[in-house]
Amino acid sequence: MEDPSESKGREGAVSGARGGRGFSHAPVLYKEAIDFLAVRRGGTYIDATLGLGGHASAIAARLGAEGRLIGFDKDTAALEMARRRLAAPEGREQDWPEITLHHASFAEIAERVAAGSADGVLADLGVSSMQLEDAGRGFSFQAEGPLDMRMDPQSELTADQVVNQFDESDLADLIYEFGEERRSRRIARAIVRARPIKSTAHLAQVVSAAARPMNQPKGKGIHPATLTFQAIRIYVNRELEDLRALLGSAPRVIRPGGRLVVISFHSLEDRMVKDAVREGARSGVWQMLTRKPVIASEEEIAKNPRARSAKLRAAERGETRGGAPGKRAVGLLGQRSTDRR
Ligand SMILES: C[S@@+](CC[C@H](N)C(=O)[O-])C[C@H]1O[C@@H](n2cnc3c(N)ncnc32)[C@H](O)[C@@H]1O
Repeated sequence: MEDPSESKGREGAVSGARGGRGFSHAPVLYKEAIDFLAVRRGGTYIDATLGLGGHASAIAARLGAEGRLIGFDKDTAALEMARRRLAAPEGREQDWPEITLHHASFAEIAERVAAGSADGVLADLGVSSMQLEDAGRGFSFQAEGPLDMRMDPQSELTADQVVNQFDESDLADLIYEFGEERRSRRIARAIVRARPIKSTAHLAQVVSAAARPMNQPKGKGIHPATLTFQAIRIYVNRELEDLRALLGSAPRVIRPGGRLVVISFHSLEDRMVKDAVREGARSGVWQMLTRKPVIASEEEIAKNPRARSAKLRAAERGETRGGAPGKRAVGLLGQRSTDRR
C-alpha cells in the first residue's frame, strides 16, 4: 500500500496525497456525532466506519487508559490510515485506550463484539473522500478510472461485472431500486448497447446521454449520472444489506443507556435508520434522541459540500431485551468479508 502523507487541520480534518492525487477529508457532523455519543471515560465504543479515523480519534481522545475503542472498515487502505491516526499522541501514551481494528463489514458486529458490552456505536455511512477522490477506485463519474467501486478491494464483485455482464432488466431493476432513478429502463438499454464500457468516464457519458431530461440544460441540477453511480456502488458493496444487519445487531451489542449514532447520505439509508429506531422506540428497545434528523449547518456545507445530504439520527438503548440474534443477513450477492488483519 502507498504511504499517504497526512496533516491535521481543523479539528478532526485530515488531508493527504495518494498516488499523486490530493484528497481532503473533514468528518461530517463531527461535533454533533461526538456530542450524541456522549463518550464516557473508561467506556467501550465502536466506530463501525473508521474511514480516515476522524471521528474515531475524537472518541479515543475522550476514553482514557481504561477505555476501549473497536473499529471496523471494509477498506484496507482506510484501516491503515486510521491505524496510524489512532496511535497514542506523544505524551498521552499512559492515558490512551486499548484499540482493536477489524478489517470486516459492520454487518459482523454481533459476531465480533460481546453482547451488551458497548457504550456507543457510531456509523458514518457511505464512501470517504479518500475513496471518492482516488480515481483508481472507480467511484467517481468525474474522473477517468476503472469500473471498480469496491470498498473492500478483496471482495469479488466489481462495477465492471455489473455494467458489462448483467442482463438489461436486472440492470434496470437495480438502478431503479438503489438509485431511485426514474429513467432506469432507458439508462439500462443505453448501457447494454454501448458495451463494452471501459471506464467510469465512459459510463458517465453513456448514462448522461440517456438520462439528461430534455428540459434540463447541461450544468443544471445534479449530474445525470449521479443516481446510476449511487445505485451500482450500493449494489457492489451490499450497502443496504449491511446496514440492515447493523441495525438488527445494535440493540444486542449496546448496553442499556448506551447510544447509537448513524449518519446517512441518501434517503434509502435514512429511511432504514428512521424505521428501525421508530420501531425500537415502540417496544422500548430504543429511546429516540432525534425526532427529526440533524443536518449540517450552512457553514459546514460551505466548507464541505458532501455534508449537504448528511442526516444524523441518534437513539439511546432502553432496558427492553431485543435485537437480532447476531446472525448476518444473507447478502444480496452471497459475499462475506473476513478479518484479514
Ligand atoms: C464516510 S467514511 C467514514 C469517515 C470517518 N467517520 C472519519 O471520520 O474519517 C465511511 C467509511 O466506512 C467504510 N464502510 C462503508 N460501509 C462499510 C461496512 N458495511 N462495513 C465496514 N466499513 C464500511 C468505508 O470503506 C469508508 O472508509
